[in-house]
Amino acid sequence: MSPVRRTIVVTGAASGIGLATARRMAATMNVVLADIDAPGAGAAADALKAGGAVAVGVGVDVTDRASVLAMMEAARAVFGPVHALFNNAGVSQSGATADLDEAEWDRVVNTHVKGAFLCAQAALPDMIAQGGGAIVNMASIYAVTGMVDGGAYAAAKAAMVSLTKSLALEFIAQGIRVNAVGPGPIDTPLLRAAVGDEWAGWKARRIERVPMGRLGAPDEIAAVVEFLIGDKASYITGQLLLADGGQVTW
Ligand SMILES: NC(=O)c1ccc[n+]([C@@H]2O[C@H](COP(=O)([O-])OP(=O)(O)OC[C@H]3O[C@@H](n4cnc5c(N)ncnc54)[C@H](O)[C@@H]3O)[C@@H](O)[C@H]2O)c1
Repeated sequence: MSPVRRTIVVTGAASGIGLATARRMAATMNVVLADIDAPGAGAAADALKAGGAVAVGVGVDVTDRASVLAMMEAARAVFGPVHALFNNAGVSQSGATADLDEAEWDRVVNTHVKGAFLCAQAALPDMIAQGGGAIVNMASIYAVTGMVDGGAYAAAKAAMVSLTKSLALEFIAQGIRVNAVGPGPIDTPLLRAAVGDEWAGWKARRIERVPMGRLGAPDEIAAVVEFLIGDKASYITGQLLLADGGQVTW
């Protein structure tokens, strides 16, 4: 008898790192592609299904509890209980912290931190009932280094690491592992939109600070998530794994 195929929810799965992770996980798991860009999530799921994957696209705003609960119910209706969650949905932010307005702070912190909290809270009952599960939270090197003109973003990413450790300890007895991944600069639509017209010059300057001398690819982060979700990471919980071309080595 073949083992039960497990299910992962990937937020922010219509684009960038989330999409690469959904693609990679689809080789072994049912994948729920959840995104505020509902048509994008649907199209991405359709593309995966065309390649033989078991996937569904669902619209969600991770900052809204009702929307998160509805997304999780939609996932269960298709695949049954959820085994794994990648809290990846995110937005960029730049601008002097002294001038940062409150609404922008709330947008950034809520998308990352409240989003991860709401999605974890919605998925954990399934994992507890099954006696195990795995969550990966999307952090960043900026959680560790801080970020000039990215005060809200870096604070949100540091909070993702803290939430990771708290959840890891809180649910360790239930067999649920919770880890974080911290990418350096990854070539995604989010990064390109944040940089804007100056892309070529910015990229040349940015990779000077990366010892590997290049940006990362989305699938290089997806591979880390696959490892942390999977059984090969069975003794790892509460950790931040930086994948940054050697930029942060302390
Ligand atoms: N690209 C990088 O260099 C980099 C580095 C470190 C960390 N990250 C983090 O990786 C994650 C993914 O970023 P990416 O670079 O792939 O960006 P991306 O813009 O390509 O993808 C982000 C996705 O999140 C979705 N999203 C935004 N707000 C949402 C909400 N409220 N509810 C549901 N979905 C929402 C977007 O629609 C988009 O599809 C983010 O958390 C980002 O902070 C990115």
